[in-house]
Amino acid sequence: MNKIGVIGAGSWGTALSTVLAGKGCEVRMFDVDEQHLRRMEQCRENVDYLPGVELNENIRFAWSSEEAVRDADVVLFSAPAQHFRSALEAAVPFIREDAYVVNVGKGIEQKSLKRLSEIARDYIDPARYVVLSGPSHAEEVGRRMPTTVATASESLEAAEKMQNLFSTDRFRVYTTEDVTGVELGGALKNIIALGAGISDGMGFGDNAKAALMTRGLAEIRRLGMKMGAKPETFAGLTGTGDLIVTCTSMHSRNRRCGIMMGQGKSPEEAVREVGMVVEGMYTVDAAYQLAQKLQVEMPITEAIYKVTRGEIKAADAIEELMGRELKHEQA
Ligand SMILES: NC(=O)c1ccc[n+]([C@@H]2O[C@H](COP(=O)([O-])OP(=O)(O)OC[C@H]3O[C@@H](n4cnc5c(N)ncnc54)[C@H](O)[C@@H]3O)[C@@H](O)[C@H]2O)c1
Repeated sequence: MNKIGVIGAGSWGTALSTVLAGKGCEVRMFDVDEQHLRRMEQCRENVDYLPGVELNENIRFAWSSEEAVRDADVVLFSAPAQHFRSALEAAVPFIREDAYVVNVGKGIEQKSLKRLSEIARDYIDPARYVVLSGPSHAEEVGRRMPTTVATASESLEAAEKMQNLFSTDRFRVYTTEDVTGVELGGALKNIIALGAGISDGMGFGDNAKAALMTRGLAEIRRLGMKMGAKPETFAGLTGTGDLIVTCTSMHSRNRRCGIMMGQGKSPEEAVREVGMVVEGMYTVDAAYQLAQKLQVEMPITEAIYKVTRGEIKAADAIEELMGRELKHEQA
């Protein structure tokens, strides 16, 4: 498994390409933004999304999805979640039947409310489909800072194959079969990161952030269990781990976006200023709809949904959350 096709040359696709290229894999990256790809080729650096990380000589570029994936043993999708379906549809006719497909996008498709593996199921054999997720900022992985993630697949064998492919002395990969739990943890923590950012932006402290993270995780687990995930997954790397990294770091676009909203910027202004994909802004819509549909109580998600839609002010959301009926912590 030496040839890797990468679809989506953003910060995460690039960081993971450096991991694989560093192990001697031949990586071919494709992106719908041709100008961006040309700049990368010219500078041997992803100046737009991951500046300061030199591209390994094993990284090459492809000018179509076909060129990126047709010989690939493994195809890595690193496009934003709302673009996963179109990226997959463009590549699927050219993906070898014996290739593995790894997806690192984190989100829920807004129009269908599907998790990304549910979309993939219509195109790819689930036994060859693997999700890679966990607490991992591209900026740190690109600089070889120690990082741990998990691969999840319905086929443990596939998850283990990708564990071996991606693991290095600085990038440690665990396995699990709980695809639903891993996907929901990765997608929904971005909503809580928006909330943590809003709280920080309003000038609140560590207590408020700890409350948002802990109670946020409680409602992520509640929705996850209703959707068939294992509760213990939410205590692991792709649940608690990813929530911590996203809610506490300035690398997190979702948190940065939230901070600006908490400081009074409109949701549109905040997203524009971040300038890269802010997954939580889409996921919050899908999660809100899922919570309504499945009748799961998700007060933090609901509050953040209303703030990001401009329906209520952040201060009113805090008042609403703090004024809810008192209850048992485990209820
Ligand atoms: N950045 C991170 O540290 C990180 C870590 C873990 C997971 N993720 C997840 O990975 C996904 C990508 O994030 P990112 O940070 O790399 O985003 P990014 O905004 O840095 O880059 C996304 C790239 O995908 C490209 N793209 C969009 N649609 C495409 C398509 N149909 N085909 C090919 N390319 C397409 C864009 O042109 C862009 O270059 C997101 O779901 C994110 O949540 C990111």
